[in-house]
Amino acid sequence: MRIAVLGTGSVGRRIADKLVELGHEVRMGSRSAGSEALREWLGEAGEGASGGTFAEAASAAELVFNCTAGVASLEALSEAGAGSLAGKVLVDVSNPLDFSKGMPPTLSVSSDDSLGERIQAAFPGAKVVKALNTINHQVMTDPARLPGAHNVFVCGDDEDAKAVVRGLLRAFGWAEEQIVDLGGISAARGTEMYLPLWLRLMGSLGTADFNIQIRVP
Ligand SMILES: NC(=O)c1ccc[n+]([C@@H]2O[C@H](COP(=O)([O-])OP(=O)(O)OC[C@H]3O[C@@H](n4cnc5c(N)ncnc54)[C@H](OP(=O)(O)O)[C@@H]3O)[C@@H](O)[C@H]2O)c1
Repeated sequence: MRIAVLGTGSVGRRIADKLVELGHEVRMGSRSAGSEALREWLGEAGEGASGGTFAEAASAAELVFNCTAGVASLEALSEAGAGSLAGKVLVDVSNPLDFSKGMPPTLSVSSDDSLGERIQAAFPGAKVVKALNTINHQVMTDPARLPGAHNVFVCGDDEDAKAVVRGLLRAFGWAEEQIVDLGGISAARGTEMYLPLWLRLMGSLGTADFNIQIRVP
């Protein structure tokens, strides 16, 4: 598949590396086609990897990952272009973390709204699926690094789009029973509002290498 990964941070690179390894044609997007982070990734990435602006990456893709800083995601996706996102599955990995008031960051949107919903509302032609935003980037594409049947959440309004994303998650190493479907895109409120707890857990545990496991009788 031709996949755009918008974002050159640790999440974008981790997901793009895995997708290249799986044989996909991956174009990483950045604000500038000549950005240092992009050049660095292209220097290490294997065959099937290319880079460009957010717009160049999204236009050629069949599926798009949003791995940009949450407070800038709407801007980055606007640069990608509503026309280029229309009709495509848009996997939203972002969190609306606002670092402007220092640490720990606050949520720039919460309670009765979420970034996932704002992205879906701003780009109604895209099929937004929120996924992987509750998990550290190392675990996203290598769940076996943690013991047990810990979980990953998906939510979105388009059932077919969620099925496509579940398939990608299985290819990343997640077993079917580890993937929990929370329903429509408004469930992004819950997965994004988990971040304040996630950040406190990271502080207490002294590592980001953890995840949660849902157990039912
Ligand atoms: N780190 C994790 O383990 C983790 C886990 C779960 C979810 N997340 C979420 O995943 C997303 C990516 O996280 P990250 O740590 O990899 O990287 P990040 O530093 O949060 O984001 C980097 C990306 O955001 C873009 N960006 C920053 N400011 C922008 C602006 N004003 N306009 C347009 N684009 C802008 C950058 O563009 P350039 O390429 O041009 O610099 C870059 O591609 C975030 O939303 C984060 O909350 C992270």
